[in-house]
Amino acid sequence: MIHRAQDAVRIMRPAYAKINLYLDVLSCRADGYHELLTVMQSISLHDDIILYYEPWRQGEIRLRIYGAPLPTDGRNLVYRAAGKYMEATGQSARVSVTLRKKIPIAAGLAGGSSDAAATLLALWEASGHALSRTQLMELAAELGSDVPFCLAGGTQICRGRGEILEPLPLAAPLYAVVAIGREHVSTPEAFRRMDQYYHGFDGSVMHGGAPDVLIDALRQGHPASAAETVYNAFEPVILPTCPQARSLRDRLLEAGAYTAHMSGSGPSVFGLFDGESAARRAAALLGRGAYAVRTVGENFP
Ligand code: C5P
Repeated sequence: MIHRAQDAVRIMRPAYAKINLYLDVLSCRADGYHELLTVMQSISLHDDIILYYEPWRQGEIRLRIYGAPLPTDGRNLVYRAAGKYMEATGQSARVSVTLRKKIPIAAGLAGGSSDAAATLLALWEASGHALSRTQLMELAAELGSDVPFCLAGGTQICRGRGEILEPLPLAAPLYAVVAIGREHVSTPEAFRRMDQYYHGFDGSVMHGGAPDVLIDALRQGHPASAAETVYNAFEPVILPTCPQARSLRDRLLEAGAYTAHMSGSGPSVFGLFDGESAARRAAALLGRGAYAVRTVGENFP
């Protein structure tokens, strides 16, 4: 949504969370990152970004955050996204961002990455598309491995460290419940534990699942038939130390999910359900910290 007020361009954007329908860690790379094969999916749980763009004011970035005690300076990915965008375009403006947080933090739902991607998209619109889409994607990849996915949105098969995307058109929307306890897992720590668990991958390629079966089922609109192929290589590493996440996963299955797994490096878990009402009933059963969601499509038309 764009409003041209007398003295500012105002853009509002949702920043959608993601879940990983498939996540395998294939190898540890020389640069310290891990080679991934993952199917990422945008879901309707979202933060909100409100951005004011004032090119006639002295260049500066201002960030206000409601709903979570997060830093509002260069430690925040939103702040860094705005700085990088302005630097790349060579434009000068006062950029004021208000972020309303609803996505749980450090949960494996890419909340921070999605906020950064929404900031890039809002600035792109406000500045009259001052960069090409490719340049925008490159900026996103510099900000973090999940930011390119969050920029593109929808359903994507992601490779490399997560930044190489291949769109996967979903034949039908999915309905899910995302559940989060009080445990926290930092992403670098989860990857470190992964290295220990698989002994640094010693050059061998891990294959934990059947991605092709799942990808075909998603393309054809019958994911329940491939329920056993939903997979997350972090589970044996993270779940043993996260009893709440384990119990939430079990409760999702008891509540009727046809499959339930961790998202990303955890500790959030999600269950897939046959329809919206089944997902809503399950979320109500699980109570606080459970969200009924549906899948969301791509950001670019
Ligand atoms: O790219 P991003 O800054 O989000 O990554 C955070 C950390 O997660 C990295 O420093 C790295 O430790 C780990 N990571 C990884 N392999 C990936 C993505 C992230 O090892 N593919």
